[in-house]
Amino acid sequence: MSDKQSIPERFGHDFLRALYHMINTVRIYQDNNQLVRKSLRTFRTLLDLMAAEDDISLFLWRGRFYIGEQKLPYVRDAATVVNAMIDFFSKRGIGSIIFLQSSRTALPEDVLAFSRLLDDSIKDGDPLSWLDQQLREEKYSWVQLFRKHDDDEASDGESADGKRYEKARQTYFHAVETVKEVANKLSQSMVGVRKARRLAQTIVDLIREDTSLMIGLTTIKDFDDYTYTHSVNVALLATCLGRYIGLSDVSLEHLAVCGLFHDLGKVGVSKDILLKEGALTDGEWEQMKKHPLIGVRKILMLNAPQSLRSRIIIAPFEHHLNPDMTGYPRTLFMVRLSLMGKILRIADVYEALTAERVYRPMPFTPDETLRKMWLAAGTNFDTVLLKSFIKMMGIYPIGSVVELGDGSIGLVMDYPNEFERGMPLVLRLVDKGNGDLKRGELVYISDEIPASGSDRLNIVRGIPPGEVHINPAEFFLHVK
Ligand SMILES: [Fe+2]
Ligand SMILES: [Fe+2]
Repeated sequence: MSDKQSIPERFGHDFLRALYHMINTVRIYQDNNQLVRKSLRTFRTLLDLMAAEDDISLFLWRGRFYIGEQKLPYVRDAATVVNAMIDFFSKRGIGSIIFLQSSRTALPEDVLAFSRLLDDSIKDGDPLSWLDQQLREEKYSWVQLFRKHDDDEASDGESADGKRYEKARQTYFHAVETVKEVANKLSQSMVGVRKARRLAQTIVDLIREDTSLMIGLTTIKDFDDYTYTHSVNVALLATCLGRYIGLSDVSLEHLAVCGLFHDLGKVGVSKDILLKEGALTDGEWEQMKKHPLIGVRKILMLNAPQSLRSRIIIAPFEHHLNPDMTGYPRTLFMVRLSLMGKILRIADVYEALTAERVYRPMPFTPDETLRKMWLAAGTNFDTVLLKSFIKMMGIYPIGSVVELGDGSIGLVMDYPNEFERGMPLVLRLVDKGNGDLKRGELVYISDEIPASGSDRLNIVRGIPPGEVHINPAEFFLHVK
């Protein structure tokens, strides 16, 4: 977590709230009304503070507000205002408002007139074009308005989000390649470790910036080269959980490397066993059970610096052990699992159960998986950590395909509140006409604050992606 609060973190909500209040008061009262003056004063104080060094861009993307390049963190108390403003922006087709530094010296009556224009624009059929016309006057030169991005265009690499998205995508596939290289000794062991370490740092950064996107990417599953995407997904999920429970950045980097390397030993297990459709024979199981130990041997041979090596061996060794030390490999010298081992185990099982395998063509849905895992809390998983994991993922984790109350299909894209997954942001998937599904609108599934004008929606059930023939990852990768 960041040690120092940034400007958006400190004043972002106050700024949004002040703008909201100003718009709402000018809607009802004349400029000389006391409430209007008060809301204007508050707004200008914040504007003064925030635009002191740079322009302020208030940017709406994928249902979240950003100020500058920073996502506005979720604060429960501010949820009503944030949702109301999302609704306000969306209905008018506004993507961003930029208050230039010169806005600090704008005349009070012009600021109020601007608020009124924003509000009134809804009366026009094309609010944004109407606003464009109105704001051409010189007295509004301190503010700029931009049209809402189509969600598909957001990956053009131009915006801060586009860049982050591209970086996330590249990091993901780079990580897959690195695991493959290390596992098959395609690169010099030293190079492989260095790469993995750098990747781990990037993964930690990306998770800090946009946890939702990184959880979304874990829906990428490669059927043929499963072990590699599995390893990257485990690294991402484990690191997200580590961050959720407040581990330090250094520990998170180690955890990410553990995730990437945890199944290196699988390369030593024959493909016939790994890809076997039916149940394994006793002999095959014995082979399979060797992979954590083979993996540890491989890590030892990696030529990693001593300080790193000791930190990335234990968890991969432990990732098939239960809290009571049953499981495999059987060990007599250990009495309890390390924290990282317990985290890795949870991420590993969740990832495996949600993946399509030869022996399980229809994987469990994420919500089903969590329920299943919860039944094994205490025996297979550390209860406290599993509870945190479920809280972090939400009932319908990001990437879940769901059926909505109105019978439509949706994909869970985000939760506005990272620490209390309550109201998912769902992308409606609509029929292209040929049975194929494409992006529809983004809707909030809200228990408490349904966006005004929209019907209250709920999630009826999770659907296996195969049932509706979609690959959730494609929607996070913007392929669809
Ligand atoms: Fe494993
Ligand atoms: Fe694994």
